[in-house]
Amino acid sequence: MAMGLSTAKPYRRRLFLLLLRCTRTAEPSPKCPHHRPLSCSSPAAAAEPTHLRRIFRPGDPNRFAPGILDAFWGVRRFSTSVDPISGGDKNLERIFIQNMSVKPIVVDGVDAVPIEDERKEEVDTVVADAEEGKEELCGGKVEDLDQLEGGLEVRQEKEQSEVEKEAWRLLDRAVVSYCGRPIGTVAANDVTAANQAVNYDQVFIRDFVPSALAFLLKGESEIVRNFLLHTLQLQSWEKTVDCYSPGQGLMPASFKVRTVPLDGSNEAFEEVLDPDFGESAIGRVAPVDSGLWWIILLRAYGKITGDYALQERVDVQTGIRLILNLCLSDGFDMFPSLLVTDGSCMIDRRMGIHGHPLEIQALFYSALRCSREMITFNDGSKNLVRAINNRLSALSFHIREYYWVDMKKINEIYRYKTEEYSHDAINKFNIYPEQIPSWLVEWMPDKGGYFIGNLQPAHMDFRFFSLGNFWAIVSSLATPRQADGILNLIEDKWDDIVGRMPLKICYPSLEYEEWRIITGSDPKNTPWSYHNGGSWPTLLWQFTLACIKMGRPELAQRAVAVAEKRLPNDKWPEYYDTRSGRFIGKQSRLYQTWTIAGFLTAKMLLENPAAAAVLTCDEDLELLQGCACSLSKNARIKCSRLAAKSQVVV
Ligand code: GLC
Repeated sequence: MAMGLSTAKPYRRRLFLLLLRCTRTAEPSPKCPHHRPLSCSSPAAAAEPTHLRRIFRPGDPNRFAPGILDAFWGVRRFSTSVDPISGGDKNLERIFIQNMSVKPIVVDGVDAVPIEDERKEEVDTVVADAEEGKEELCGGKVEDLDQLEGGLEVRQEKEQSEVEKEAWRLLDRAVVSYCGRPIGTVAANDVTAANQAVNYDQVFIRDFVPSALAFLLKGESEIVRNFLLHTLQLQSWEKTVDCYSPGQGLMPASFKVRTVPLDGSNEAFEEVLDPDFGESAIGRVAPVDSGLWWIILLRAYGKITGDYALQERVDVQTGIRLILNLCLSDGFDMFPSLLVTDGSCMIDRRMGIHGHPLEIQALFYSALRCSREMITFNDGSKNLVRAINNRLSALSFHIREYYWVDMKKINEIYRYKTEEYSHDAINKFNIYPEQIPSWLVEWMPDKGGYFIGNLQPAHMDFRFFSLGNFWAIVSSLATPRQADGILNLIEDKWDDIVGRMPLKICYPSLEYEEWRIITGSDPKNTPWSYHNGGSWPTLLWQFTLACIKMGRPELAQRAVAVAEKRLPNDKWPEYYDTRSGRFIGKQSRLYQTWTIAGFLTAKMLLENPAAAAVLTCDEDLELLQGCACSLSKNARIKCSRLAAKSQVVV
């Protein structure tokens, strides 16, 4: 039932849609091409044209996303799935019932909403708040880096090389504006006729992260701040696939700024933000990593600029909680790792990574660590913080213990007994030793090891995935010994992982029957191409971060040097093909922004290792202790910090 404004709680009064409209009379541009026909006949869906629900275009109550209007009027209709709140952890339940609707989204055109007279005063307050918020977002001046206290000192002593200068020119050219303000970078600026834009003309959340870091390290923070705030507003948008709406909190994979005619006018136009939550994406994959990247970037923004006020804002705090709510809500799963579908991260096509892929677990762990630092601690958040700590402990134990492989562990698996039934089973996941792939027997170095790609009942995916391993180091999900072991392995297997272009997205590729069955005969993911063993220069910055953290920058320097020789000549491709990364990828976009930004960020981190330090997380022994203690409840391990160290740290 609708709730009147006069009876609304103060936080509800602030629940409005932010103005994201800026009218202009510029060149008309094509209408939104996404007027998708409705594929189902439910009355609710038929009453609301799908494109109106997707496009972020406030101003008219009939054009509000239904979820937002409902939230405004006090009706919760966040999801057509089982209520994630009441179905979840009881402690979290309280937190989220308190805060679910707090998001102080500000709306323009509030006068378009039918308002009774007695509510007018309150609406005026809301409009004033809205103006304030709008001013801050679209017109507000972002402080210069040197005005901010506690931020990173930005060093730009070194003269840029010609390659760096070109990279900066290209990165600046990739900037997308909205309401005349920078808001992100387009995925690729490839103008060659052979390469259709598909969705490469959009701002991808994950792709923007290296751009954001490059800008921040250069002292330009406005674009990052705008990006963080605008994507936050997209988070509240209702998204629907085949009459089904996933839960609130999901961040889009990407968004596009569109110019559309203002209703009833042939001359005036407005810009709208059109997010894609996976409902247009190839394969309709939900971008699980987007929210995690958003949290990681939010922390980086605060650390580098010293502008901690942004993360303290109520809407930003609520955004963090909504993401965590999605990640921490209970399901059927038995593991502390996140259960996701195939293609829910950088690898956004079918590649046999459904289940508990390492990339998502490492980003999840990082995002939990970052959130814990940023969440304002009070009575309303203490249960959430407790839930985060518990999950961090369990997750780090789980990954360190069960995902790690080295010679010793492979040998153990080789001698595993199977079909063990009991609490004390050694082979907990019933792994049949025959699963050890023949390539691994020779490939595994004597010194070093890595985290496997996935773990499920009776299934270990032994492929080496770069991003997950790098982030395990960066976030301290890996123990110091494991982190060193990963870098040892990369050094040892340099030709396989770096080769002629850093870095292999995964090793080795799926071939023959495996390729046919696991990828579904995907012609883009043929062996040693694209996600199936292709080489992605954007991974350079994450590798660099990991190397600097472990005190081995020379490894990153070597890899950057390999890339620097080729990238400008090859026009900054998205990815490379073949076993050693010799060819430019078959369907690779040129002038791919995260290739350019990844290179620049890697360079800047190497020049300013102090910057790397603020982007990483250190080992937290309290977490280990927490895990050892909960294990001790099963009388397996005595509870002490020492026990934590000896049992959990490999
Ligand atoms: C491809 C990549 C994905 C990236 C997108 C835009 O789909 O797989 O990770 O975000 O291109 O560059």
